[in-house]
Amino acid sequence: MERPAWAPQGIDISVPSVSRMYDFYLGGSHNFEVDREAARKAMEFLPGLPKIMQANRAFMRRAVRHAVDSGIDQFLDIGSGIPTFGNVHEVAQAADPGAKVAYVDHDPVAVAHSQAVLEGNDRAVIAAADLRRPKEILANPEITGLLDLDRPVALLLVAVLHFIEDADEPYAAVAELREALAPGSLIVLTHASYEGIPLPKEEAAGTVGVYKNIRNPLIMRSREEISQFFEGYEMVEPGLVSMPEWRPDTPQSPEQEDPYAFSGFGGVGRKA
Ligand SMILES: C[S@@+](CC[C@H](N)C(=O)[O-])C[C@H]1O[C@@H](n2cnc3c(N)ncnc32)[C@H](O)[C@@H]1O
Repeated sequence: MERPAWAPQGIDISVPSVSRMYDFYLGGSHNFEVDREAARKAMEFLPGLPKIMQANRAFMRRAVRHAVDSGIDQFLDIGSGIPTFGNVHEVAQAADPGAKVAYVDHDPVAVAHSQAVLEGNDRAVIAAADLRRPKEILANPEITGLLDLDRPVALLLVAVLHFIEDADEPYAAVAELREALAPGSLIVLTHASYEGIPLPKEEAAGTVGVYKNIRNPLIMRSREEISQFFEGYEMVEPGLVSMPEWRPDTPQSPEQEDPYAFSGFGGVGRKA
């Protein structure tokens, strides 16, 4: 297979990647047939996957605007993905032109495309780093060169923690980040769950099997387990809820939306 210009040298384009599959669900063009094939397989079990991803992106944008409205002007977005429509820096800098955004991802396509998109923006950077090694993120010179971690930051962990297996200690990693943040900081988080999916668990589990097969397991956690990522932080109203229920822009009743959008959870916590 020929390697297109946007794909960095050395990446294995014979194995599906989580970030390129996500790009496909969202209608992006930074994916290969191998990614589309795996994504279509996952959608055979969970046809509403793109709807879940759209609800996730919409939640993220509302949460970023909420952060700016509450005076936050620094964002650390870990597991930021391949840039698509309405990225964090666009939403944050539209609301506050001085807002600074540091993106972090471990996927080389996400990093390369972010670099291209951010060229010329001196208030946004992308660092190649791994959420499983939070110390390296906190000490990364690209990040510390842009963000002042002694001031409040909105830490985004959006649709990423469900790719961290318990053996890789996601709770310890998030605790380290939580502790490093200044008072007034926010954690913006979404996470996949069997709770809320409008299908029997046995059917939805087929999707989990697809991710397991591509050696990037998708870890479904309960609402109770997800709430533990916010330990010590105060939950911003309305708490940890299904994504369309978190401060919707319009008074439209959530029931009018696609039932798949109610899969999983989103919430924002604040450090007192
Ligand atoms: C489903 S995408 C979410 C992208 C974006 N946060 C959003 O919600 O639109 C998950 C992203 O997390 C990244 N990711 C997964 N595990 C990671 C890790 N251990 N460290 C850094 N990034 C990770 C993947 O490469 C992918 O780009």
